[in-house]
Amino acid sequence: MTHRIGVLLSGRGSNFEALADSVSAGRIPNAELSIVVSNKPNAPGLERAAARNIPTRAIPSKGLEREVYDRQVAAVLREYNVDLVCLAGYMRLLSPFFVAAFPQRILNIHPSLLPSFPGLESQKQALDYGVKFAGCTVHFVDENLDAGPIILQAVVPVLDSDDEHTLSARILKEEHRIYTQAVKIVLEGNYKIAGRRVLDSV
Ligand code: GRF
Repeated sequence: MTHRIGVLLSGRGSNFEALADSVSAGRIPNAELSIVVSNKPNAPGLERAAARNIPTRAIPSKGLEREVYDRQVAAVLREYNVDLVCLAGYMRLLSPFFVAAFPQRILNIHPSLLPSFPGLESQKQALDYGVKFAGCTVHFVDENLDAGPIILQAVVPVLDSDDEHTLSARILKEEHRIYTQAVKIVLEGNYKIAGRRVLDSV
């Protein structure tokens, strides 16, 4: 069976591209990227998807109540028979309706070691706080911001010479690596969720 992945994004789409590369290279077996949806019609990620001949859909959210909007997105994902939703720089909170529509089938990548530094500008938050290690997290998504059981994390050092740009670049490299790994784990189904913990099922 081929798993059908839908990607939601709002921006440049480097995590989307990392997933697309991994699918093409067989690092995520038995899968295809079926549709890329953006709330921002000008998101560079949409162009990147189109360049790979992956179907795209821009669904502007302006003026729409959250659930009304999410119903439109869910309908498109259903149209493409998506069975895993990957958020990749998608700058919107999901409604309870959307979360319930894809139970434990929505993943997000966040550029911090959650639960530290949720929300925006996580890398700047990490630098300002003065932590010595930063990183990224792939987690299941619920209705709360950057919450939900953690599938994988990766740690990077914070160097004295770092600014937001250099730290973000070091984290981004790890984001691309662990997002692929996490998608593979979830699609293969070799895990169980115990409370907040995602454990090997073997
Ligand atoms: C990434 O840092 C991701 O962790 C965060 O938003 C950024 C999106 O970057 N959620 P890109 O669009 O995937 O390049």
